[in-house]
Amino acid sequence: MASSPLPFLFFLPLLFLNPRFSQANLHQSKTLLRSTLPSQQSSTGDTTEPTLFFEVTKPISVPHTKPCSLTVLQHDFGYTYGKSPVLSNYTFPDDCPFQEFSRIVLEWNATCKGRQFDRIFGVWLSGVELLRSCTAEPRPTGIVWSVKKDVTKYSSLLLMNKTQTFSVFVGNIIDQTYTGVYHVNVSLYFYPAVEKQKLFKGKKRDSGSEIGSKADLIIPFSRDLPLKDGLWFEIQNATDVKGKEFEIPHNVYKAVLEVYVSFHEKDEFWYGNPPSEYIVANNLTDSPGNGPFREVLVSLDGELVGAIWPFTVVYTGGINPLLWRPISAIGSFDLPTYDIEITPFLGKLLDGKSHSISFSVTNALNVWST
Ligand SMILES: *[C@@H]1O[C@H](CO)[C@@H](O)[C@H](O)[C@H]1NC(C)=O
Ligand SMILES: *[C@@H]1O[C@H](CO)[C@@H](O)[C@H](O)[C@H]1NC(C)=O
Ligand SMILES: *[C@@H]1O[C@H](CO)[C@@H](O)[C@H](O)[C@H]1NC(C)=O
Ligand SMILES: *[C@@H]1O[C@H](CO)[C@@H](O)[C@H](O)[C@H]1NC(C)=O
Ligand SMILES: *[C@@H]1O[C@H](CO)[C@@H](O)[C@H](O)[C@H]1NC(C)=O
Ligand SMILES: *[C@@H]1O[C@H](CO)[C@@H](O)[C@H](O)[C@H]1NC(C)=O
Repeated sequence: MASSPLPFLFFLPLLFLNPRFSQANLHQSKTLLRSTLPSQQSSTGDTTEPTLFFEVTKPISVPHTKPCSLTVLQHDFGYTYGKSPVLSNYTFPDDCPFQEFSRIVLEWNATCKGRQFDRIFGVWLSGVELLRSCTAEPRPTGIVWSVKKDVTKYSSLLLMNKTQTFSVFVGNIIDQTYTGVYHVNVSLYFYPAVEKQKLFKGKKRDSGSEIGSKADLIIPFSRDLPLKDGLWFEIQNATDVKGKEFEIPHNVYKAVLEVYVSFHEKDEFWYGNPPSEYIVANNLTDSPGNGPFREVLVSLDGELVGAIWPFTVVYTGGINPLLWRPISAIGSFDLPTYDIEITPFLGKLLDGKSHSISFSVTNALNVWST
């Protein structure tokens, strides 16, 4: 990141002068903490139409073909903490006459009304995360938002000829204060590869090679169902290591690990955390420390193979919710993921035995959902 230090000059005074932004423990669980209540517009507002929230992104370029579509899940997310993700059976739509697709798009549409925090959520297919995102903060007059993500790179999974488990976890609380229930539809659009023949005329049709980033096989690295809350490995502190065993076929010639990560509670604003010595010297009691440096470390069989310096995504309630209404911060509706090349280590991995990948976070405070 070649960004100037200016954003930090802007954030740090806010965080230091108003430590309440990141500290109060309103909820014991994985809330995105705010000490102030999520902002609530007075109902005298002149608009009764729901507010449309959006993140400014480059539009997904789709062919002009008519896509096959499928609503994978429709659910109202009320009180969900400590509960299992919501599941549905996913099968590729059997009324779709095409077999090759140049683009597959996941669409998350949601409405919410009342008062609620920004909530983190994950979308998985067979344990493979497809989307990590944050909800928009509702208003009494209601909000609506739509997130589209190009999931073409997960084609081999999405096009499998069998029923798979689709899961969504939104960690939410409903009580007398927090009334916002998220009404959600998740859809998939499969754009047939007709355009491709025109665009790549003369070339042999061979799914994947044009896009160049579709894997033949996708192995999940998430916690297994059934379980409570998300399928994430929750890294709680600087010594916490979490991971999983896996096996790969003998004929693998390229392997990439895609890492999804989001940071919450004491580390939601890790880039503004003061050193612990500062906290001690100033007798601060409820301020998260460990300084402003974090690094997600990936190990293969206990040996370090990659490190990630995550982009500082500010969720829709971060610092001041009014900053993110209706345009939410970069990455907040579709958190960036990070690729780690595993190919150089295949020499060790192709022995037919099981191996392990594990995650840790330098200086971590709770919690890093990885
Ligand atoms: C998925 O399908 C199986 C078998 O038909 C059924 O037992 C299960 O209840 C279904 N799950 C959901 C979430 O609909
Ligand atoms: C989701 O929202 C978008 C944007 O408003 C809209 O174009 C699309 O038709 C919606 N999808 C469904 C399935 O309602
Ligand atoms: C979800 O789909 C249902 C049925 O098509 C529709 O009535 C509802 O408005 C949709 N909700 C959202 C948030 O798009
Ligand atoms: C999908 O699987 C079913 C049953 O195993 C089989 O009858 C069908 O031909 C398969 N379809 C494709 C496109 O491979
Ligand atoms: C770090 O987190 C792990 C997992 O929650 C816990 O078992 C361990 O005691 C923690 N270590 C410290 C030093 O707090
Ligand atoms: C911190 O507390 C100690 C003991 O109560 C006190 O002596 C010291 O002056 C305090 N330091 C600051 C910076 O307030």
